[in-house]
Amino acid sequence: MRRKLLFGNWKMNKTRSEAEEFALASKELLELASKHNIDIGVAPTFLSLCKVKKTNPDLLVAAQNCHYAPSGAFTGEISIPMLLDYGIKMVIIGHSERRTYFNETNKTCSMKIDALLANDMIPLYCVGETLEEFEKGITKDVIYDQIKVGLANVKKEDASKLIIAYEPVWSIGTGKNASKEIAEDICRYIRELLREMFGDVSDDIRILYGGSVKPENVKDYLLQEDVDGALIGGASLKVDSFRQLINNVIE
Ligand code: PGA
Repeated sequence: MRRKLLFGNWKMNKTRSEAEEFALASKELLELASKHNIDIGVAPTFLSLCKVKKTNPDLLVAAQNCHYAPSGAFTGEISIPMLLDYGIKMVIIGHSERRTYFNETNKTCSMKIDALLANDMIPLYCVGETLEEFEKGITKDVIYDQIKVGLANVKKEDASKLIIAYEPVWSIGTGKNASKEIAEDICRYIRELLREMFGDVSDDIRILYGGSVKPENVKDYLLQEDVDGALIGGASLKVDSFRQLINNVIE
């Protein structure tokens, strides 16, 4: 049985004190979610990771990126040992904004995922097609490459640590969320690919939908068989909105 997961991607938002304020309030959110067997977490900026983790150690906390090398001449980057030193065990990999603005490729995602798994960490791997690819009808081809290349070196025994997020690029921050039917169709396809690669472990891997998820539509997605949660940007920033997301899932 896969536990539902609501995960907030804060992107480049919140100062350290704003992040702390949220983390304090998140204790109540965590209690509410746990009572209903839902996991919740957030991905703050690097500069707020420590504060959030210390303020609410029980909350799942992810970094938004990492480098695959343990150290070296990579100006501006953050390594996995540095994150581990902060108690961070989870990292978002391959978010479309990183692919678009920072030249992240399936191959660099693969290197990062391998490095995370070698350190017993959890990669939250994002995949999804652009509007142009969606309109051309090649969504599944794009997803195929992202999954097959990004997860190429993952060993069967590590596969259960993965979390995948399907985020159509055209739905991120646009208010144009994918229909629940599209979300289910692609999440199911992802699970089929995972089954080909890892066998029955695919039944344990959580697959999230992301892209303009709000309190009003979150339940529609989570009711789908192969959608195990949501990766949420804008609607995860305010405590009230996050509480509403949880409430709408459990009601
Ligand atoms: P959004 O972002 O919910 O603001 O569309 C989702 C994401 O980028 O993960």
